[in-house]
Order: sequence, then structure tokens, then C-alpha cells
Amino acid sequence: MAKLTIEDLKRIKEQVKKDTALREGGATVKITVHMGTCGIAAGAREVMDALLQEMAETDRQDIRVVTSGCMGMCSSEPNVTVEVQGHDPVVYQGMDANKMRQVFKRHVLLGEVQTDFALARMKEESPEEGSAEQET
Ligand code: FES
Repeated sequence: MAKLTIEDLKRIKEQVKKDTALREGGATVKITVHMGTCGIAAGAREVMDALLQEMAETDRQDIRVVTSGCMGMCSSEPNVTVEVQGHDPVVYQGMDANKMRQVFKRHVLLGEVQTDFALARMKEESPEEGSAEQET
């Protein structure tokens, strides 16, 4: 059996953290609104307001909304990441209130990825590999 490296352990830790976070409280969907300085300047608060309105109108209890810092991609802000359990996370770019409502209704509730404003679909990493695929 091959020896585990520190890098392997870090990757495993990150994966477990991600999986655990998604399962917490029975959540099967996690929506992250990236609210770094540039995200807020680009309109992330309006995106969050629209998302919270949509959340108030659904009776789904398995959807978790969180915020995070920026992704290091000022030019594509506001960014929103949608993680549906069992599917690769999708990062959306250039979001506004209307796009957020569309993503919520179509992707989160119906499972239809909105490719028009998807920046990337992040491949779930296995300990041996790691990648982020650009949506084309
Ligand atoms: S503040 Fe713009 S990428 Fe972080």
C-alpha cells in the first residue's frame, strides 16, 4: 500500500469537511454567496436578498444558504456556488437578483444547471486527482 502524504491527508480532510457540511442539519443543497469586497461591490447583497426571498417562499428544509469570502475572481463577481448532493458543484458568475431567482427555481429546485451563466463545474476530487473543469 502506498504511503499517504501530507497532501493526501489535506485533500481527504477537505473532502470530509465538504461532505459533512452538506449533510449538516439534513441539508442536501448548499448555496454559497461569495461576499468578499468585490462581490459586495458588484451586487452580492442584492443577490443574497433575492435568494432569501426565494428561500422564504419554499417549504424545502434541506437547502442551506451560506456566505463566504471572494474566490479571487473579481471580474466574474457576484459569484454563487450551488452544491447539490451527489452532483458536481457549479459556480455561477455575474449574478444579479433575476439570475439568482432563475438559478434557485431551475437548478436548486429542478436540478437544471443554468449553463448560460455557469462559470465552471467543479469536479468532485478524489484523493488521487484534483481539477476544476471550465464550462464550455
Ligand atoms: S476582492 Fe476581488 S477577488 Fe477578492
